[in-house]
Amino acid sequence: MSNLIAGEKIVKSFNIGKEQTTILDQVSVEIEREEFVVIMGPSGCGKTTLLFSLSGTDDITSGSIKFDGQEISGLKENQLADMRRQKFGFIFQQPTMLKNLSILDNIILPVVTDNRKNLADVTKKAEQLMKKTGISGLGDREITKVSGGQLQRAGICRALMSSPAILFADEPTGALNSKSADEIMLLLEAINQEGTAILLVTHDAKVAARADRVLFMKDGKILSELAFTEKGAKSFEDRTGEVLEQMAIIGV
Ligand SMILES: Nc1ncnc2c1ncn2[C@@H]1O[C@H](COP(=O)(O)OP(=O)(O)O)[C@@H](O)[C@H]1O
Ligand SMILES: [Mg+2]
Repeated sequence: MSNLIAGEKIVKSFNIGKEQTTILDQVSVEIEREEFVVIMGPSGCGKTTLLFSLSGTDDITSGSIKFDGQEISGLKENQLADMRRQKFGFIFQQPTMLKNLSILDNIILPVVTDNRKNLADVTKKAEQLMKKTGISGLGDREITKVSGGQLQRAGICRALMSSPAILFADEPTGALNSKSADEIMLLLEAINQEGTAILLVTHDAKVAARADRVLFMKDGKILSELAFTEKGAKSFEDRTGEVLEQMAIIGV
């Protein structure tokens, strides 16, 4: 069986005036089904660009990206959009939500149609997800009347509405205090254990220590990786220590 995602020799460059800048320099990365992979690296090293490339959000200059064995650059615009909507979930530092809609309406918005049966089904699914993420009862709340951690939980619910194969997460705990960040990470770990692959960018060693594998980037390249194959074999503190050690070596 093929990897869930296989990126090979990805190059992404931009022309800024006459200068050509290479942001991703021959990056190869594979993500297995149900795997939890973290990307770390200094600001500006290309983490977000890699996430956007692997998820088909951004075009690449050269190289190959396969999802489930299928080359995504070969897809038509609407096929790519369908794939992203059905198979991929996205969360960011803060979810972008519509201010005039309730939490529940924001969660179901991407998957709701004008069919009554669909509305009942997606509402039921949203309520299950809200229960799981600990925000049951907040469905009717305005989005400005909940905490940052609750809003991020709602963002996670929205991302999971399509039961994606993989969740792309760009610094999802970056705007949270450490208690909320820990809670969000426990939640993401549980979601991963139930079978959703995760590719997550973070600056936080404690966040990275929850992954199966941590990739360290610098200047558009992956320089090294840490694998926690038997997660139970090492304590959370030991894994955090190893991440910190590697960050010091790379200069993150
Ligand atoms: N659309 C763009 N045009 C030109 N340069 C860009 C563009 N997007 C990102 N960059 C540059 O690419 C580099 C990597 O950006 P990014 O992937 O956002 O880094 P990171 O997420 O690791 O902080 C940065 O130097 C950024 O300025
Ligand atoms: Mg970034």
